[in-house]
Amino acid sequence: MKPKLRVAVFVSGSGSNLEALIRAERAGRLKAEIVLVVCDNPDAYAIVRANKFEKSVFLCEPKTFGSREDFEKALVEVLKKEKIGLVVLAGFMRILTPYFVNVYRGRILNIHPSLLPAFPGAHAIRDAFQHGAKVTGITVHFVTEHLDGGPIILQRSVEIGPYETLEGLEAKLHKIEHKLYPEAIRLFAKDRLSIRNRKVTIER
Ligand code: GRF
Repeated sequence: MKPKLRVAVFVSGSGSNLEALIRAERAGRLKAEIVLVVCDNPDAYAIVRANKFEKSVFLCEPKTFGSREDFEKALVEVLKKEKIGLVVLAGFMRILTPYFVNVYRGRILNIHPSLLPAFPGAHAIRDAFQHGAKVTGITVHFVTEHLDGGPIILQRSVEIGPYETLEGLEAKLHKIEHKLYPEAIRLFAKDRLSIRNRKVTIER
């Protein structure tokens, strides 16, 4: 039998997606094992969640490294040691350099709270809301060196009604994220994703 895919989840903040992924793993819905949580922020609530579920946390504060390259080299070293097959960015507020992307090309996923390519960047929900968009959503995509620009795996849309509040919209979007990310990881783990000409095909 094929060994289970070993996953590292990268976080910086609240970690609600991390918790949803751990719950999916426990329910047998991930078809992968979350071996490691990588966190760049010692105050992140994600660390509390990881501890609650007894997940190992690798805390890597960039300021303790001489350069970005040294920081990413240390990450790669830990990931190799842990035989990580998939890197899952879940609210990781740091842009990975081409060095890191090259080492794990095709094996890094990100979740973004808009229908990419609309509203890239760190404030996607607020940007879509303030823009007056009628529809927004969630995107799970492969990570490349282009910010929020890699091949799209799954998307779900949400309507923004006339009386919607920003808080209400955020809550709706997070709820969708917590279902969509485990689904994407499961597809990856089952080798059902292939990329051709930047487009992702989901094999049946
Ligand atoms: C999510 O909205 C995700 O789409 C974005 O960052 C947020 C992380 O939230 N990339 P959490 O830390 O998982 O609660």
